Amino acid sequence: MKRTAIVTGASNGIGKAISFAFSKEKINVVLADLDQKNGKAVEAKINGDGGNSKFIYCDVADPVSVQDLVNDSYKEFGSIDIIINNAGVSEFESPFELTIENWDRIINTNLRSCFLLTRDAAEFLKKSGGGSVVNIASTRAFMSEKNTEAYAASKGGIVALTHAMAISLADFGIRVNCISPGWIYDGQPDKLRDIDHHQHPSGRVGKPEDIAKACLFLTDPNNSFITGENLVIDGGMTKKMIYEH
Ligand SMILES: NC(=O)c1ccc[n+]([C@@H]2O[C@H](COP(=O)([O-])OP(=O)(O)OC[C@H]3O[C@@H](n4cnc5c(N)ncnc54)[C@H](O)[C@@H]3O)[C@@H](O)[C@H]2O)c1
Repeated sequence: MKRTAIVTGASNGIGKAISFAFSKEKINVVLADLDQKNGKAVEAKINGDGGNSKFIYCDVADPVSVQDLVNDSYKEFGSIDIIINNAGVSEFESPFELTIENWDRIINTNLRSCFLLTRDAAEFLKKSGGGSVVNIASTRAFMSEKNTEAYAASKGGIVALTHAMAISLADFGIRVNCISPGWIYDGQPDKLRDIDHHQHPSGRVGKPEDIAKACLFLTDPNNSFITGENLVIDGGMTKKMIYEH
């Protein structure tokens, strides 16, 4: 039977590339996002190319919306095997100006969402005899620029949540891993400067497809020895020392 993946934040950027990559592997894809216009366009492209996808409106910060997403996905495709917790907001503000409301919104959208969808979908992954969850964190879980407190905390939380849920769900054959991307660019290539590329040990800025390929690797049932792990994909930036001589 064909596997089914739920990809959050699938209407744009990294989530869109992950959805296309799964569809190419003949995996049904649920496209979950707030952005209906672009989500429907992704759905049309995948289905037009012979794949099987469905856009479902979901606010990942809302527990009821997440539960509805899981139920509707199962009704549509009859199984849930893969969860990609990718939806997120990248918002940066001075700690002196960051309101409690914005702190809660960023944490709930980026971090609590990963807990809610994984927990709710786990009931269905169990029915499939197991499955795989990939959470999208960030290299900002490990190092910082100024004024990034809520975002960094949400991503650090994702790395810890990943190993905790990997252990709690292991008995059900469910693997939980995360990916920490560095700079991933989905715009016009000519908008990037030479220095943007050359500062990376890899010699280039990342693309959404770099993350999509890693999602295929981590969710491949043949890679069943990998769980609780964080995979940094950043062109080597977090391995580069920057002392000035
Ligand atoms: N692009 C990068 O350089 C980079 C680096 C590290 C980590 N990330 C992470 O990768 C993920 C995807 O980033 P991206 O660059 O593709 O961003 P993006 O803004 O292009 O896409 C994010 C998607 O999430 C959706 N979304 C936002 N809030 C939502 C909500 N409450 N419910 C449902 N959907 C919601 C948006 O509508 C959008 O389609 C994010 O978690 C981001 O933090 C990105």
